[in-house]
Amino acid sequence: MTVYFIGAGPGDPELITVKGQRLINQCPVIIYAGSLVPPAVLAGNTAERVINSAELHLEQIIDAMRQAHADGQDVARVHSGDPSLYGAIGEQIRHLRELGIDYQIIPGVTATAASAALLGCELTLPDVAQTVILTRYGDSSPMPAGEQLNDLARHGCTLAIHLGIRNLARIVAELVPHYGADCPVAVVHRATWPDQDWARGTLADIVEQVERKGFRRTALILVGHVLGDAPFADSALYRAGHAHLYRPGP
Ligand SMILES: C[S@@+](CC[C@H](N)C(=O)[O-])C[C@H]1O[C@@H](n2cnc3c(N)ncnc32)[C@H](O)[C@@H]1O
Repeated sequence: MTVYFIGAGPGDPELITVKGQRLINQCPVIIYAGSLVPPAVLAGNTAERVINSAELHLEQIIDAMRQAHADGQDVARVHSGDPSLYGAIGEQIRHLRELGIDYQIIPGVTATAASAALLGCELTLPDVAQTVILTRYGDSSPMPAGEQLNDLARHGCTLAIHLGIRNLARIVAELVPHYGADCPVAVVHRATWPDQDWARGTLADIVEQVERKGFRRTALILVGHVLGDAPFADSALYRAGHAHLYRPGP
């Protein structure tokens, strides 16, 4: 018996992996993360029990897994996006290890990748930014030392800020000293869901734009000069004259 932590992807049901979908269709017990999981990925299941974890606390979720283990039933534990990012799977895994219950993680398409795809851009451009920091805004639960936005912004690289939409004005105020008011920003709301939408602007005007759109939840804030028209060089990878294992020189 195994608990499978499955990434359901950002919203579009076609963005789950083949393996994740197969396991959801096969497992006799499904525990899914409420409204964040696209209903269509659960549609073909033949499970005996389908449990919405949004209504449960951690101990109740672990109890459901323990019961499935006692019954010899595999569990599909379905999270949004990729389970390794803000999925709260670490605490579940800690319990499973203590209980001696096997688990596996099936990765998923994360909101950052889905948002970049929607915007049609690369988050790592030569000469502009070669690093992406995935972070969240520390409002309700604090951030570890050294991970305040102010610390991260010093790098000037691309930022993907989760769970921050309600604090957009504070985020902007913290970023302007590092990135400048004219730095491009995009706020992507419910990427790949049927009602997906986004706002693009600069740190100077993004708050006003997002207020106009009315985004309140499930939005990713992307910040960085890769989102604008900063000049960048072609990559070494495809440069003529750059030899490597698969394209040896003359
Ligand atoms: C609890 S985190 C889960 C992240 C998820 N595990 C992932 O890999 O994308 C939820 C936050 O991720 C972002 N998010 C998740 N899905 C999104 C989507 N479809 N579009 C935009 N942002 C999304 C939002 O910032 C949201 O508040």
